[in-house]
Amino acid sequence: MFQRFRRTRLNPHLRALVRETHVSVDDFIYPLFIRSGEGIKTEVSSMPDVFQMSIDEVLKECEVLKDLGIYSIILFGIPDVKDSIGSDSLCEHGIIASSIRAIKEAHPDMFVVTDLCFCEYTDHGHCGIIDEVNETVNNDATLKISGQQAVLHAKAGADMIAPSGMMDGIIQTLRTSLDEAGFENLPIMAYSTKFSSGYYGPFRDVAESTPSFGDRASYQMDPANRREAIAESISDEAQGADILMVKPALAYLDIVREIKDNTSLPMAVYNVSGEYAMLKMAGMNNLIDYDRVVMETMVAFKRAGANIIISYHAKEVAEMLRK
Ligand code: PBG
Ligand code: ZN
Repeated sequence: MFQRFRRTRLNPHLRALVRETHVSVDDFIYPLFIRSGEGIKTEVSSMPDVFQMSIDEVLKECEVLKDLGIYSIILFGIPDVKDSIGSDSLCEHGIIASSIRAIKEAHPDMFVVTDLCFCEYTDHGHCGIIDEVNETVNNDATLKISGQQAVLHAKAGADMIAPSGMMDGIIQTLRTSLDEAGFENLPIMAYSTKFSSGYYGPFRDVAESTPSFGDRASYQMDPANRREAIAESISDEAQGADILMVKPALAYLDIVREIKDNTSLPMAVYNVSGEYAMLKMAGMNNLIDYDRVVMETMVAFKRAGANIIISYHAKEVAEMLRK
């Protein structure tokens, strides 16, 4: 006697009834890259349909997103001037603080997440302050200014802070800084397990954040390490993170599942720029059925345990879900 698995596959309604995983527009956070100026909407060649935008264009884009049912965005600022400590990211009139204020003023119903890091703002392109002696990012010096950046985002109106620099102790530091400034209800989404990955290439073109020397392997995780990946997320949970994240997503679904099973926080995946670019290029060259593969990929993230998907595909997925 064998089980008739096919019995429940024969009718589309029954397939829908027994489906275990669902993708909804509510699952998504859409990334936006913002720079100063007016009327700027520049496509970057490595990421078709992804733009650097000035604030006025971002405000229009929010309208489009809301029409699609997307209310959550994550912001990346591209400053006019970069320096050794990323001063623009600490300044009330810098690009990120100005963007948050403008968006929350025009669209108070949007949920604004901010990426908290320094690599877009430093002239050397690293995720913190460089230690001249060790020629790497100084962890504790970077923690100090990270707290400042978090409070700046919070005061400008950010709804959630997402630190992506992979400094040790960042969650505890930000939690303390935010609480002391009166933002004890502001959630932190930790980039808790972030690998040192080649999949970030196109992002660094868009965000203009390629390191001018070396790489990020002294702070981001080795893709080969599973146990350390779990420990990183468990540590962030203990430090007070509200949401954990694995990044990149597609090549790390084993890690997503394992963290999901070993922690009790909601989980996000970052479906990164290189993953987006691969599907986009394959689709544009008619090598794959693009819509189908995109949706299959989103289902895989959810099936692996993700509650939240940060993705450049979010708008396309919202359109597909409408059909
Ligand atoms: C900044 C940051 C990066 C990404 C998000 N925040 C890049 C990096 O670490 O170089 C990558 C996002 C993507 O590739 O889509 N720390
Ligand atoms: Zn960074």
